[in-house]
Amino acid sequence: MGDVREEWVVLAGSSHPELASSLAQSLGSRLVHRTLDRFPDGEQRVQLRDDVRDREVYVVQSLIAPIGDHLLELLLLADACRRGGAKQVTGVIPYLAYARQDRREVEGMPLGARVVADALGGALDRLISVDLHSAGVEGCFSLPVEHVSCAALLADAVRPGSAEAVVVSPDLGGAKRAERFARALGLPVAIIHKSRRSGSEVSVQGVVGEVEGRAAIIVDDIVSTAGTIEAAVGALLGAGATKDITVCATHGLFVGPAGDRLRPLPIRRIVVTDTLPRSPSAPAITEVISTAALVAETIRKLHGAK
Ligand code: R5P
Repeated sequence: MGDVREEWVVLAGSSHPELASSLAQSLGSRLVHRTLDRFPDGEQRVQLRDDVRDREVYVVQSLIAPIGDHLLELLLLADACRRGGAKQVTGVIPYLAYARQDRREVEGMPLGARVVADALGGALDRLISVDLHSAGVEGCFSLPVEHVSCAALLADAVRPGSAEAVVVSPDLGGAKRAERFARALGLPVAIIHKSRRSGSEVSVQGVVGEVEGRAAIIVDDIVSTAGTIEAAVGALLGAGATKDITVCATHGLFVGPAGDRLRPLPIRRIVVTDTLPRSPSAPAITEVISTAALVAETIRKLHGAK
């Protein structure tokens, strides 16, 4: 196969085969042929169709819905690689579900991020993930974790034409992320004080920072139901920001009411990455930036290659 790198191979789970293909292309490596099927009772049945003996295998699986099925499929694929004699099995999980459960909010809850980390730890040698929800998530893993940051990629994509803009974190948890963006763009930062009422409802207590008369660039890691963005836009307009609003986030889940919430808002641009397949609920203006080259660069660095 010409210049194809045979020592590294990419194995695609069913959640995001497009990203797996782009990654294989960026790496100059090949995709492992595999069958993903089910037994009549619903059990998943996976089978590798290529030899992975002595290969470094990169299994690409984003943990989108159905999350449990995709997680189990990844574990089965990793086990098949291990039993097939792979040299090392790395999970490339650009979007890691359960990462938001990195602490117990109330008594009686599990530490979801730790449960997922333990399951992955039994199957993988290493994990590559993109913009984890918090620094604490990495601590849930006993595996080595390569944490890819999209901050520079996204900051470049949303760089405004004028200096009359402000970078906004829609909650306290994202303050550090927004500060990094603001520094990269040479702009001031504002932080919204948000509290969550339920999985899809949030309320805003106030905006800290100067937003009046400014265009706003709202930076978050995830847009899920878009309750956070809807509340942030309302708070910014209420505090005098202009209607020139950009939303940028690494993981564009766009689930449930997200599309209906976002469409009526005065948002000029929505920029997300391809850590997930494009959701049918994403508003038409949504721009998607590829992370394949960044992940490929991380893999090359791991091998000391250019
Ligand atoms: C919360 O801590 C995250 O950083 C996001 O702000 C949140 O997950 C977004 O969820 P939603 O779009 O449902 O408000």
